[in-house]
Amino acid sequence: MAKLEILVAPDPRLKKRALPVERVDDDIRKLMDDMVETMYDARGIGLAAPQVGISKRVIVVDVARDDEEPQPIQMANPEVIWESDEERTYEEGCLSLPEHYAEVVRPEAVKIRYLDRENEIRTLEADDILATCIQHEIDHLDGVLFVDHISSLKRNMIIKKLQKVKKQRQAEEATA
Ligand code: NI
Repeated sequence: MAKLEILVAPDPRLKKRALPVERVDDDIRKLMDDMVETMYDARGIGLAAPQVGISKRVIVVDVARDDEEPQPIQMANPEVIWESDEERTYEEGCLSLPEHYAEVVRPEAVKIRYLDRENEIRTLEADDILATCIQHEIDHLDGVLFVDHISSLKRNMIIKKLQKVKKQRQAEEATA
């Protein structure tokens, strides 16, 4: 397995709609495994392929707590096929928006259809943090970040701060 580089916003690759996976083959399985490794290394609970610069509809999630066994889930072409009327507010973060958090409202429970690592069609019912996490990751496949769900004032503030950090880092690299 290999660790991949995680893109940080603002980046046009995070705003693109990702392409469906035609078939889950060895290449996709390797991508899924690399994404799980990258997610664990970054101490995240979810990661979408566009975040590592790959425009494919692949996500990985693991919402197990530190004191629980890892429970990685790998999905290709995940789709929400049902969502609850009941909503839930959760303070979300994102590996592509480091150190920024905001409250986002989403359906409390969802049913997802996806292809597993054997290319089999599966469905999963999720609620609570798993439902929030999967919806957040599917958003990435459509070029949507959690900040797109909050006020534009707050969103612009976060993006500006990230842009500043990026520029500083680039300037440091240029003089190093
Ligand atoms: Ni994210």
